[in-house]
Amino acid sequence: MKLFLDSADCEEVRLAAELGVISGVTTNPTLIAREGKDLRETVRTLATLVDGPISAEVVAEDAEGMIEEGRELAAIHPSVVIKLPIGLDGLRATQVLSRRGIKTNVTLVFSIAQALLAARAGATYVSPFVGRLDDLSANGISLVRGIAEVFTLHGISSEIIAASIRSPQDVADAACAGAHVATVPYRVLLQMAAHPLTDLGLARFRRDWKDAFGK
Ligand code: G3P
Repeated sequence: MKLFLDSADCEEVRLAAELGVISGVTTNPTLIAREGKDLRETVRTLATLVDGPISAEVVAEDAEGMIEEGRELAAIHPSVVIKLPIGLDGLRATQVLSRRGIKTNVTLVFSIAQALLAARAGATYVSPFVGRLDDLSANGISLVRGIAEVFTLHGISSEIIAASIRSPQDVADAACAGAHVATVPYRVLLQMAAHPLTDLGLARFRRDWKDAFGK
């Protein structure tokens, strides 16, 4: 399973890219608004930081507007993937953009039926939201598992990006459930690398070494 960073903070992305563990970036209107910087400039910068798919989400509400926005965003850089919300307009835009060879990421997916529609419309990626289902006491990972089972059973090539990730356990569960990608906030990426027993073990190694060799 690949890891993408779910962020529009170019400094976070730069730091994460230095670890050599992320293969792409996803953004959304909320993440872009939080940074307060121009979407196109942000996407252009992200594409220089990470050699992989950069998801940029349209904000138009009708299919025609989504298609126009998608074509403009795709022209920024070959790495750009157009993020479109699941729904009738998003599906119309997905099939038009996909037929033009533009990669698409259908987002805000909360059911297998939505994922299946997105795949049939030609989506390169589908993004089920794990955390937002868990927030409602639903089981987000079971959705990822169900989509993975359906896509495997029917030979569907769209890739599953487990999104709305809240913890390292969500990442592990998404990997076990068959997601192709987990897109993680920078905070979660840092948490993935850490463990209290690792810290304790390292401190003991260093103490024993210093006790024995004095440095
Ligand atoms: O960017 C898509 C998704 O990962 C955002 O999820 O629930 O953290 O806003 P959330």
